[in-house]
Amino acid sequence: MKVIAGNFKSNLTRKASIDYLNALNSKLDSVFDSRICNDKDIYIFPSNTSLVQNNYKYITLGAQNCNDSKSGAFTGETSLLHLEEFDIKTILIGHSERRNLFFENDDICARKFDYFKSKNFKIFYCIGESLEVRTSKKYLDFLESQLKVIDVDYKNLIIAYEPIWAIGTGLNATLEQISECVSHLRDMSNAPIVYGGSVNENNSSDILKISDGVLVGSASLDINKFYQIIKE
Ligand code: PGA
Repeated sequence: MKVIAGNFKSNLTRKASIDYLNALNSKLDSVFDSRICNDKDIYIFPSNTSLVQNNYKYITLGAQNCNDSKSGAFTGETSLLHLEEFDIKTILIGHSERRNLFFENDDICARKFDYFKSKNFKIFYCIGESLEVRTSKKYLDFLESQLKVIDVDYKNLIIAYEPIWAIGTGLNATLEQISECVSHLRDMSNAPIVYGGSVNENNSSDILKISDGVLVGSASLDINKFYQIIKE
């Protein structure tokens, strides 16, 4: 089973997201019918204002972020109540943009992890080193430290290894670099390990050979590219 996930980040309106989801679902209908990709788990993470009922036949919808609360006085936040409305049971936690731009440190990520674990969510827990950490050669220790704060035996965990220097830069890690980190993470957890960072329709098939899946940002915004990655 391979995990193929698209993270729309703060892109695509609600209408554009719904049009995309409908179009992708119908494209997948023919692919699944011909049994080319009945071994794929396909996820889309639209912006929270574009979430709709999670009842697509081939696509599972997830939230890019959510507050660790059922509801309450949290101005500007989305809470569990809002995800439940659409039957959303999948979440990204610890994306490097949340960590770096919105100051979500390991403690906050761990708190969110514990909360959504208690709700039995499928959790894509993102980790990854900066260029500085990579250059210091301490990146394996760093990845370990990021995972230390969560229950790596959680049955609904997917670990997303996303080196920050490869996200949105067009600079994807080499297959050797990905392999080294994936095998190190496999020693730490039995969870599927997906790779993210400038994955596109040209490099995805090689990356899928050495990982359990891909988390795709920019290339997922183009339905043809994302569909190509699924077919690969
Ligand atoms: P990218 O983003 O594919 O645009 O590098 C990946 C991610 O942030 O998950």
